[in-house]
Amino acid sequence: MADQYAQTGDDKRPTDLPVLRWEEPAEGPVLVLLDQTRLPREEVELVCTDARGLVDAIRTLAVRGAPLLGIAGAYGVALAAARGFDVDEAADALAGARPTAVNLARGVRRAHDAYRAGLGQEGDLERAARDALAAARALHREDAEASAAMAGHGLALLDELVPGGRYRILTHCNSGALVSGGEGTAFAVALAAHRAGQLRRLWVGETRPLLQGARLTAYEAARTGMAYTLLTDNAAGSLFAAGEVDAVLVGADRIVADGSVANKVGTYPLAVLAKYHHVPFIVVAPGTTVDPDAPDGASVEVEQRAGQEVTEAMAPQGTVAGFEAGGGYPVAPLGTQAYNPAFDVTPPELVTAIVTEWGVVSPVTAEGLGELCARSRQV
Ligand code: MRU
Repeated sequence: MADQYAQTGDDKRPTDLPVLRWEEPAEGPVLVLLDQTRLPREEVELVCTDARGLVDAIRTLAVRGAPLLGIAGAYGVALAAARGFDVDEAADALAGARPTAVNLARGVRRAHDAYRAGLGQEGDLERAARDALAAARALHREDAEASAAMAGHGLALLDELVPGGRYRILTHCNSGALVSGGEGTAFAVALAAHRAGQLRRLWVGETRPLLQGARLTAYEAARTGMAYTLLTDNAAGSLFAAGEVDAVLVGADRIVADGSVANKVGTYPLAVLAKYHHVPFIVVAPGTTVDPDAPDGASVEVEQRAGQEVTEAMAPQGTVAGFEAGGGYPVAPLGTQAYNPAFDVTPPELVTAIVTEWGVVSPVTAEGLGELCARSRQV
């Protein structure tokens, strides 16, 4: 297939704006987010002064993607503490803002635990707030480190699984710097391949209904200068049939004890296609995404979102933000009901490998995953 959509560009950070940062202006600490509902049309920041604002930002997907949700949740607890709000209430609201990505509740818990420990017997509010912020910053830093390690392990795995290099990688949803303290998860592996001169093409599934692939992954890919092509989700089958995919790389919102993987809806059908076409299906996610307390796929709560996201489309000049505020236009008769799960679950037998910062699990089994987690605790 001709590279008619090849791009060129500098290999720079996928966005000029930090995805999330903590600031302390005179009026009090704030969490500044890049509003992902406005991308790719405009880079606009959203300033959160309290946990309630952050909960809204999480629900509307202004801030999104499993690892970043964990980081944001931790900073949200720090924000509530620094501004003197009820921290227990804020932690509850943040942890429950979206149910599927385990990173969110886990990030909130880490900062909340640090806050409670900081309070001590004396109820030292200042120390507690400082400790919550230190926990959020540590998580942020560790996620960046995990991202770099996953990129290395993922690239080595591609070298093993796809003889000859020059990979054509299919990805789904968005898993780059927009979801991470670093360069992301699955996207970071594609970026590493690009830097090594080994990426022939990144196939980007548009990811209906909120178009994280088209709006966000294409935005990130364009800025790195890698060759990428956007496709509708339902074009994936013919792409596999044409022999155009060497590997599928996706992130995850929760990986449970038996190796089942919850990720953006549309991931499971890609795994089925990959199996049928003998193409490696690789999941890349940090250890914070692994939930050993959930035994199997059936135990994952899949977020159900508003039917309007399916029955309406973004107006041509619109943004997700405008669309969610009622600025969409109907693509189905008025009153049509919609099925709109935000995620699906892929069983372990369809997953060739799981890549974490601790290494690679392949084949994907409960034992293999358990061993990797145990090894990580010894590090
Ligand atoms: O609904 P979103 O946009 O938060 O969903 C994000 C995804 O499903 C990503 O694929 C997932 O978080 C993994 S990215 C590291």
